[in-house]
Amino acid sequence: MNIEELSNSAKRSFIEIANETIKARGRFLTVLSGGFTPLKLYEKLAKENLDWTRVHFFWGDERCVPVDDPGNNFGQAKKVWFDNIGATNIHRIKSDPSTGSGQRFEPARAATDYAATLKVFAEAPLDWPRFDLVLLGMGEDGHTASLFPGSPVDVDSPTLAVTANYQDRPANRVTLTPMVFNQAREIWFLVTGNSKAETLHKVLKGEYKPAVYPAQRIQPVNGNLVWMIDEAAGSLL
Ligand code: 6PG
Repeated sequence: MNIEELSNSAKRSFIEIANETIKARGRFLTVLSGGFTPLKLYEKLAKENLDWTRVHFFWGDERCVPVDDPGNNFGQAKKVWFDNIGATNIHRIKSDPSTGSGQRFEPARAATDYAATLKVFAEAPLDWPRFDLVLLGMGEDGHTASLFPGSPVDVDSPTLAVTANYQDRPANRVTLTPMVFNQAREIWFLVTGNSKAETLHKVLKGEYKPAVYPAQRIQPVNGNLVWMIDEAAGSLL
């Protein structure tokens, strides 16, 4: 399977699960990931028919850059997806400078604000929703969302402001934490490319070392976990 086939199959499953959930519960709560890998899926979904007004979009993480910066996860999805559909329920992480005070990035404040957003959709006794579908990616270093190797993630909080280095780029980010992800009904990792093969092997087949490979922290308590990988990423499995 290559990225094109993988994105097509993810698209079909996304539409199916969204339709079923809307039928059963009247709305569909999904969490999007950033990065390059899901963009093809987003482009494909932009051409699909669905009652998009019943879909609520959230993010697993966000970078503290302006919305029109290519690094802004909401901005990227908006460009390839939301600008082409009638989505009305977009709950982005407001980590860009225009939402802070003055010109400063304020990741800690954005994290607190987002925890309040999650609470609005909370499913008691949780302080956040049980998401219907969470999309995640994995970096070459084993990070997922903005849970990086060495970052403090065993925190008693649904959101977290993070400063992390990835591929030599220091970054301020906001992320959801494993306790939120792991309550989801369904979680999909989308992972492609040769450069991730070794880490993917360690994450899936190696010893449990979550401080080194944060993707290992993703283990739904009462939901499904699906790894959608292309041939290149899976070449060592
Ligand atoms: C982000 C992410 C991040 C991403 C991985 C993989 O905002 O950076 O949510 O966890 O999923 O870094 O990114 P690629 O798909 O670009 O390899």
